[in-house]
Amino acid sequence: MGVRYQRGLECIAPYIPGKPIEEVKREYGLEDVIKLASNENPLGPSPKALVALQQALPNLNYYPDGQCFSLRQALSLHLQVPPEQIAVSNGADGLILELCMAYLDEGSEVVVSRSSFPIYDLFTHAMRGTLIKTPTHEYGLDLTAMADSITERTRLVFVCNPNNPTGTVVGAGEVDDFIQHVPEHVLIVLDEAYYHFVDTRDYPDSLRYIREGRPNVIVLRTFSKAYGLAGIRLGYGIAVPLLLDTIHKVREPFAVNLLAQAAGIGALNDEEFLRQTLDINAAGRRFFYQEFQRMGLFFVPSHTNFVLVNVSRNATEVCKNLLKHGLIVRPGLAYDLPQFLRITVGTATQNSRLVCALEDVLAKIQLS
Ligand SMILES: Cc1ncc(COP(=O)(O)O)c(C=O)c1O
Repeated sequence: MGVRYQRGLECIAPYIPGKPIEEVKREYGLEDVIKLASNENPLGPSPKALVALQQALPNLNYYPDGQCFSLRQALSLHLQVPPEQIAVSNGADGLILELCMAYLDEGSEVVVSRSSFPIYDLFTHAMRGTLIKTPTHEYGLDLTAMADSITERTRLVFVCNPNNPTGTVVGAGEVDDFIQHVPEHVLIVLDEAYYHFVDTRDYPDSLRYIREGRPNVIVLRTFSKAYGLAGIRLGYGIAVPLLLDTIHKVREPFAVNLLAQAAGIGALNDEEFLRQTLDINAAGRRFFYQEFQRMGLFFVPSHTNFVLVNVSRNATEVCKNLLKHGLIVRPGLAYDLPQFLRITVGTATQNSRLVCALEDVLAKIQLS
């Protein structure tokens, strides 16, 4: 019969990440495989982060600084918020888990949008919370529907901005209105994992809410995307100190490893790398738009480093066939978008290869 696990775990589907490159090489006997499935940086890691890592290696016999003092100082300078308002985490995912641990009891409600980041669902269920999903509006979050879904039992609301997997943003005015309307017993999580890639002026200056002392807002960010450090696991949250104190009660003592802290400080200084990343991403997005238009495929204009495209076919099937060409992308089924692919923007060569393979695969699969 085995050890009894937590009630409700049987209905949690484990998160399925993009297939690792090595696995696809082994399975398909391929040498050259390109992963455009997990919104990683195609340029590699920030070179300044790599230098900082080298310098930190001899200190690996020591536990890391549990307070992340130096990295919080560096972030404080970078963001112009006091270090007491910053909590560093083992990826933004780590902070999402800690928020769920700290704020959810059995039956607490969590409001999320349909077609949004599935980790919110997973950790809500793990803490036996109840998930309330609101419909999307033109592939983006509908903040009015989200606000209307709040009840006395609501503890958290996740606003993924830009939204993964649709790449859409909700504008500054809308977010402002939402924050005014949400009662103070609800913690608003503004997940800005992709904020570097946003190219509209109508994007909220969310740090303003924290500087103003809003007690129920936390902004999440990550080093995984724009700085190319997904493998080291480093994220952070910005919120008033009282809120961060609550999170610290549930976190493990050394959640952020020593190398991650060093790499983060290096990356923050790497403006050159950030510039290159944003340039290559903007060019890649334009290329995809142009090619998808030529192929007659509907896509959602993106404020991120990925593009959501409707292939009008079973997208899981399309993904399987792309694997044979050595291309890993993400099918939309887990996001309630079964005919869509989410494709990470790569280098110009990778993007061209993707388009060629996609044309080939689509020609062989029937429309559905
Ligand atoms: C919207 C969103 N939030 C958070 C994360 C987690 O980021 P991290 O790699 O820092 O855990 C991701 C990663 O893909 C994401 O897409």
